[in-house]
Amino acid sequence: MSAHPTATTPIIEVRGLTKQFRRPMKEPGLKGAVRHLFRPRFADVNAVEDVNLSILPGESVAYVGPNGAGKSTTVKLLTGILVPTSGTVTVSGLTPFENRIENARNIGVVFGQRSQMWWDIPVIESFRLLGDIYEITEDRFAASFGELNDVLELEPLLKVPARQLSLGQRMRCDLAASLLHRPPILYLDEPTIGLDVSVKARFRQFIRYMHRERGLTVMLTSHDLGDIEELCDRMVMIDKGKIVYDGALNEVTARFGWERALHLTLTEPDPSALETASRALAMRTGAVATQPEPTLVTVTFDSREDTSGELIRDLAPLLAVTDIRIEEPSAESIIRRLYEGDLRFDPTDS
Ligand SMILES: Nc1ncnc2c1ncn2[C@@H]1O[C@H](COP(=O)(O)OP(=O)(O)OP(=O)(O)O)[C@@H](O)[C@H]1O
Ligand SMILES: [Mg+2]
Repeated sequence: MSAHPTATTPIIEVRGLTKQFRRPMKEPGLKGAVRHLFRPRFADVNAVEDVNLSILPGESVAYVGPNGAGKSTTVKLLTGILVPTSGTVTVSGLTPFENRIENARNIGVVFGQRSQMWWDIPVIESFRLLGDIYEITEDRFAASFGELNDVLELEPLLKVPARQLSLGQRMRCDLAASLLHRPPILYLDEPTIGLDVSVKARFRQFIRYMHRERGLTVMLTSHDLGDIEELCDRMVMIDKGKIVYDGALNEVTARFGWERALHLTLTEPDPSALETASRALAMRTGAVATQPEPTLVTVTFDSREDTSGELIRDLAPLLAVTDIRIEEPSAESIIRRLYEGDLRFDPTDS
């Protein structure tokens, strides 16, 4: 199977998906706590709001956004763990929360923070139980397990109870557990959190293999840019429950590409450089100066508002500048700023 999706019917189809949580509004202090007991007040929060998403079989999609953006909530809606407040989810033709068991046959899930293995029994027993749950025949179990064992080197871990595994060992077992029944779809929610460099590399290699060679559809949430760059071609960005970007990973720069940074290296440390620069730029709306080092002033600006030439003309006479560098945004810097809550979304952009 090729890495590129050939089918045109989405395997995952999400329309107008909204999930509202009711959050208690407690006033601070004991008085507030007591008052809340007698007259609780709640606020409804949209964790996911009007999300539309179509994923084709064989795609590998990164789902990124800052803490609390709604990523895990979306994954839980896709797996059927959560019921939508409104909108529809269809996965391989099924509505997950209405057909949880049937849907489970089509999906594998790895939540980096939680294990799906039974804590106290040897790993191999967890695999066998999963085999029973998914009604995998003896032959298929042997084939499937054998393959996963080869790639993930599970052999030495099989007799160990899950609770005694290191994080990296546990992740290898969890990955195997999620793929034992050979589902066409794999959801990975922060799968590489806490993994060391070598385990992470092996993990990525394995997912890439399953995606490219086996046509596995992958949806990955991760704060690790390496995961995203190595595993995904498409990126969906979510912020405050809403999708703010959906497209090719390498086209994100075009979407947010109007952001620039101008780096001015100074001949010597200048404690007043920031103030001087900020004053000179006060009239320019999109330009903001910072001084990351004593001899460096960085101005981030909007290339639709200002040109680097204009900014250099403003600043060069006021500062002792030896070197000038203009930085265009990379996909990496854009994603990082999204995570830092620092990416500006301009509604006039599309
Ligand atoms: N069971 C719940 N009850 C109430 N609010 C919830 C619940 N689960 C999530 N939320 C809220 O919904 C919002 C989205 O949470 P979610 O876990 O989907 O974020 P996330 O994008 O996965 O963040 P992170 O990067 O930290 O994992 C947050 O504001 C969170 O507090
Ligand atoms: Mg999460």
